[in-house]
Amino acid sequence: MAILQDKVCVITGGAGSIGLATARLFLAEGARVLIVDLKEEALAEAAQALGSENLATQAADVGDAGQTQAYVDAAVSRWGGVDVLFCNAGNAGPIGGIEQYPEDAMDTVYRVHVRGSFLGCKHALPHMSAGGSIIITSSVAGLGGSPGVYAYATAKHAQIGLMRSLAKEVASRGIRVNTLHPGPVDNAFQTGIEKDFGVLIGGGDATALMNSMIPMGRHGRADEIAQSALYLASPMSSFTTGSLLIVDGGFTA
Ligand SMILES: NC(=O)c1ccc[n+]([C@@H]2O[C@H](COP(=O)([O-])OP(=O)(O)OC[C@H]3O[C@@H](n4cnc5c(N)ncnc54)[C@H](O)[C@@H]3O)[C@@H](O)[C@H]2O)c1
Repeated sequence: MAILQDKVCVITGGAGSIGLATARLFLAEGARVLIVDLKEEALAEAAQALGSENLATQAADVGDAGQTQAYVDAAVSRWGGVDVLFCNAGNAGPIGGIEQYPEDAMDTVYRVHVRGSFLGCKHALPHMSAGGSIIITSSVAGLGGSPGVYAYATAKHAQIGLMRSLAKEVASRGIRVNTLHPGPVDNAFQTGIEKDFGVLIGGGDATALMNSMIPMGRHGRADEIAQSALYLASPMSSFTTGSLLIVDGGFTA
């Protein structure tokens, strides 16, 4: 039997790189998948690329409570509950020195990663039961600091606090909560960050610098992150909760 046969999986940021790769893998493993993202057009493109009758889409801003309730309701009314919640939506925010750092970035970035993950958990949990799994995409930026990455790095650290607290609250219900920590991934999101970081380090090639800091010598691929999400989503990780899964080619070793 497929690893996620008939499991209902909700993936936020599902039209993006890691979310889409994860949706593809979960569908191949028998899941019913709702992808959530900001824009209808991006969701329509994703749906076309995935081409599965077990896929549904819902446009929502994960930072909005009403829209969160609506995407959870969409999964529940269609399939009866939620087995896996993958809080994966993300925005990068600016990179720059602290004195010039824009104050509103602390709100716009937190809104997606921290408030968005919190709201997803709050609204999905009433529909989850024993065996359920919540996965929050943090980052290696949630494990250590980088100069200038103030909003993103602190938001990614904060997600661990949410995960750890919630894991302890829902363990007795048989529901697991973990964070996933990708290192740099070869996609547009990371390219944007590296462009900004390159400016901060005086015009250097941030991509080459990153590769030189990764023992495996390369960026990850979205499908490699998806494999790790599959592990956390599935009964293969039945005794894993409150934990951090680092997928970074040795970057933080
Ligand atoms: N790309 C990397 O190298 C990398 C590394 C570590 C962690 N991450 C994390 O992985 C996750 C996925 O990133 P990705 O690399 O696939 O980037 P991506 O930009 O391809 O995907 C992120 C998706 O989130 C969506 N999104 C943003 N704000 C939203 C909101 N308010 N409501 C709903 N959806 C929203 C975007 O529209 C986009 O489709 C993010 O949380 C990111 O921080 C990425």
